[in-house]
Amino acid sequence: MTATAPKQQENPLAEGLALRRTPDPCALVIFGASGDLNHKKLMPALYALAVRRLLPQRFAIVGVARTEGDDESFRQDMEAAVKQHARDEFRQDTWDELAPQLHYLSTDFADTSGEDKVHDLLEKLDEDEELGGNRVFYLAVPPPAFPTIVEALGKRRDDRGWTRLVVEKPFGHDLASAQQLTATLLEYFKEEEIFRIDHYLGKETVQNMLALRFANGIFEPIWNRQFVDHVQITVAESIGIEARAGYYEHAGAIRDIFQNHLLQLLALTAMEPPIDFTSDSVHNEKVKVLRALHTPGPKSVVRGQYGRGFVEGEEAVAYREEAGVAADSVTDTYVAAKLYVDNWRWADTPFYVRMGKRLARHETTIAIQFKAAPHPPFEEAASEGLRPNVLVVHVQPDEGVSLAIGAKVPGQGMTIRTVHMDFLYGGAFRTGMPEAYERLILDTMLGDSTLFTRADEVEEQWLLVDSIVAAWQRDKPAFPNYPAGSWGPPSADELLHRDGRSWRRH
Ligand code: BG6
Repeated sequence: MTATAPKQQENPLAEGLALRRTPDPCALVIFGASGDLNHKKLMPALYALAVRRLLPQRFAIVGVARTEGDDESFRQDMEAAVKQHARDEFRQDTWDELAPQLHYLSTDFADTSGEDKVHDLLEKLDEDEELGGNRVFYLAVPPPAFPTIVEALGKRRDDRGWTRLVVEKPFGHDLASAQQLTATLLEYFKEEEIFRIDHYLGKETVQNMLALRFANGIFEPIWNRQFVDHVQITVAESIGIEARAGYYEHAGAIRDIFQNHLLQLLALTAMEPPIDFTSDSVHNEKVKVLRALHTPGPKSVVRGQYGRGFVEGEEAVAYREEAGVAADSVTDTYVAAKLYVDNWRWADTPFYVRMGKRLARHETTIAIQFKAAPHPPFEEAASEGLRPNVLVVHVQPDEGVSLAIGAKVPGQGMTIRTVHMDFLYGGAFRTGMPEAYERLILDTMLGDSTLFTRADEVEEQWLLVDSIVAAWQRDKPAFPNYPAGSWGPPSADELLHRDGRSWRRH
């Protein structure tokens, strides 16, 4: 026996990503490299992957944008972005290994020499770094630029390595434009080469919804209309629209969050168990849910826009006072709806959903509210503090799952109160949460599209949004109708009160 204490066992679940294979050598070309997304999300995610040694050994990142610059200035810019936004501490040795893999091309794709420049650089990198012609093209540019770039890339395709195209949201503005965009992409790329990002699917807690449901025997039998009273999904943000008025004025909460993130959360909550965890099996089940969604009538949808108020103690201006927003804007910054999934599992079970900017708190949750016990044998007064069981998936922040159950208050007599059984990621796995983009970028390199949205899903999502928006054209809403820092318009509360229910307390 040695006197030294045994080395603590590493938690094998702490770094799930480390258990996967490393992608093939490849070049990742980021269009829109001078933009916010690259600075705040993509580069910090690539750095996190570098820290964990998950990037391919032979690898190149090519930034493409209109902004003037060269390799050197791009590397400096990206170093600053990593220092500011990465979740890991800055490590000079990791950066020194990564930086030489970064290259930059200043070009405008509207001018045809742009595609030649990209093509020539990729050829050179293929040769110098032996990348085998494998490419991930990442479109982090505004949608009007998509077709020009896609066409230019498509025309110069060769069959040497594999090619993948990553498309950021928004994927269209309505059903017709989404179909048009899909048609453009399919002219040059196959569906399995197209990766439509919905970054919520890259969040650990969102994937955990699948683990929770399908890795545990106890939930599935009660995950249906017989036992579930209703479901509540909340995507609340305390931030406003930041500097994105140009985009947001045309999108609103309905296109910005409802059409994609919210409906994906709902689909994962309501879907049938897939036969396996392959991309098609998962997509097939999700699309069935989206197809089964009943178009809500006007009384089942509430829209809102924030006025002045206080958010987390700070004064906030009204949406109509934000820079770049029209003084009489009728853009929605809040949406709540009662939705029904018309199938055997969920018939008549409401899914109440709400999402908004400038709400009281940043919080994304999925709450499964179960029916009350049929005949509790306790005196009414004793169980006043008892609420029906609720299973809450805390997507963010405080990632975890909690189950509200009734328990006896210690002492004489039989008084019952609701208590919570909590699982917190931080506590259980002793690791920081990966950012969604780490997983998603890695998956594009691995060619795994399970956590991306397929064309038919996107179309189903637009079909629903188009019908809601069409109904909105008929009348002019009285905006603003909720103060910044509140939980939304009073009509959103009424939506549930009419059914004898209320939004979860915060
Ligand atoms: C984006 C929206 O898709 O998601 C933003 O365009 C929103 O408006 C963001 O703020 C929220 O993402 P997260 O990961 O911060 O919840």
